[in-house]
Amino acid sequence: MTTRREFIRTLSIGTAGLLAGGVARAAAAPAPPAAAPAAGAPPAPSGPFVLPPLPYAADALEPHLDAQTMQIHHDKHHATYVAKLNAAVAGHSDLASSSVEDLLRRLDTIPADVRSAIRNHGGGHANHSLLWPSLSRDGARAPIGELAGAIDRSFGSFAAFQDKFAAAALGVFGSGWAWLTHSAAGELAIETSANQDSDSDVLSRPLLGIDVWEHAYYLKFQSRRADYIAAFAKVVNWDEVSRRYRDAAKG
Ligand SMILES: [Fe+2]
Repeated sequence: MTTRREFIRTLSIGTAGLLAGGVARAAAAPAPPAAAPAAGAPPAPSGPFVLPPLPYAADALEPHLDAQTMQIHHDKHHATYVAKLNAAVAGHSDLASSSVEDLLRRLDTIPADVRSAIRNHGGGHANHSLLWPSLSRDGARAPIGELAGAIDRSFGSFAAFQDKFAAAALGVFGSGWAWLTHSAAGELAIETSANQDSDSDVLSRPLLGIDVWEHAYYLKFQSRRADYIAAFAKVVNWDEVSRRYRDAAKG
């Protein structure tokens, strides 16, 4: 497996209930890195997987994240992951009737001829589907409820978490993601993953992910990834991330 996993820090939060919890998404493992879907890609073929709409206008995160990037990122890049995932499952009725999360959970059972496509494009679909609702100009600007306490216990403070999360995102080599995750044992951690890999063999269950593929920031920030990470931090939807944690804790 070529996927790199970096375990930055993990501390038990003693929440056995998290074992059965989970955020709806996932992604996957080895083989050739996913090529970045080109902007202007053809429309998705018909298939079981559907591009979710942005939950806000493309310019809603201005001036932090620019409208053009958001539009291209969603309408072209994410759309292409969906299109190629649909193409991969075409002719495989058992795969076409599964959720993307299920496909990524059982990647080792997927026929070899479509496994890489499902890992890369299924991962891209799942990761981006988690990303869009993770952002907002409104709502809590810091973790709330149970997550606030868990972050303090695991990282020392929210500020310390932010520093570690930003450092992890900055340190991703090439294309990938940095994540706030919780493990099946109920531990919070910051992890990174390459490409669109994020299935359970690669990553614990994600609560929040920052996309550090260049397509996520290059139009506005060019090579200044650190500035993009700082801008991203200003529009995290902590209401949503805190809700994910609360739901996961319920099992
Ligand atoms: Fe992306």
